[in-house]
Amino acid sequence: MKVVIIGSGNVATVLGRLMVQNDVEVLQIISRNIDHAANLANELNCKYSDYNGLLDANADIYIIAVSDTALTPHVEFIKNLNKPVAHTAGSVPKDVLKTISNQYGVFYPLQSLRKEMKIIPPLPILIDASDAFTLDLLQQLAIKISDQVQVANDEQRQKLHVAAVFVNNFTNHLYVIAESYCQKEGVDFNVLKPLIIETAQRMAESSPSKWQTGPAARNDLFTIEKHLSLLQNYPEWKELYVNLTNSIMDA
Ligand SMILES: NC(=O)c1ccc[n+]([C@@H]2O[C@H](COP(=O)([O-])OP(=O)(O)OC[C@H]3O[C@@H](n4cnc5c(N)ncnc54)[C@H](OP(=O)(O)O)[C@@H]3O)[C@@H](O)[C@H]2O)c1
Repeated sequence: MKVVIIGSGNVATVLGRLMVQNDVEVLQIISRNIDHAANLANELNCKYSDYNGLLDANADIYIIAVSDTALTPHVEFIKNLNKPVAHTAGSVPKDVLKTISNQYGVFYPLQSLRKEMKIIPPLPILIDASDAFTLDLLQQLAIKISDQVQVANDEQRQKLHVAAVFVNNFTNHLYVIAESYCQKEGVDFNVLKPLIIETAQRMAESSPSKWQTGPAARNDLFTIEKHLSLLQNYPEWKELYVNLTNSIMDA
């Protein structure tokens, strides 16, 4: 399988590394910034270009891993090839690519990816396509780099993206608040890290609904009041505490 990757950011880099490690031939990196394209291409040992250069026409598929807003205006140059293309965005419908090719789809890695990652975590991939041929192509590519490949249409993918915001972005935001609270109150956030890891690891065993603990789950109003008084100097965090407490109590 031969691939051209458009983009040189986090997703392009991680997918590119995984592809090269798993015998997928990355022919070329295309990126807006030629230096970014060159850096990734040098790492992956392939050709590179910016949008003004020559696009390699020999790929089986073109993976577009650019910022959501840059998806269509900047990849118009693939149009003349009319080859299979796929974007990597969770919340963007596959149809945004239909003006670019007759064969288009989505190749969405459901993971938080950073090019600085030393170890690449397991990477579920959700695929979707305009036609059976492109879906099969995306499936073949996905199973080369992931053990968890699922077909998900726009609606399913966007719903999973919403759920991903809850489990990843929101929980991380809560860690940020907790760390900041600890710093301001002169206690050590580090002692909470084993608890964070234990809570996350429990998910592998069974439904999170079975693992809800804490004062709200016990309906322990005495402790909740105490906590609210300890948060009186932080009205926004106090409000969040109240909202989450109510949500747990209503569950
Ligand atoms: N990071 C994740 O965890 C993750 C996970 C799943 C899906 N995604 C999706 O994957 C896509 C790429 O995300 P990313 O995290 O790799 O983003 P990123 O690291 O910020 O990289 C963005 C890429 O888009 C290019 N770009 C940005 N603005 C552009 C513009 N106006 N015109 C042309 N190119 C532009 C950049 O090119 P230059 O560097 O050359 O300027 C860069 O290659 C997004 O759709 C995102 O929603 C991300």
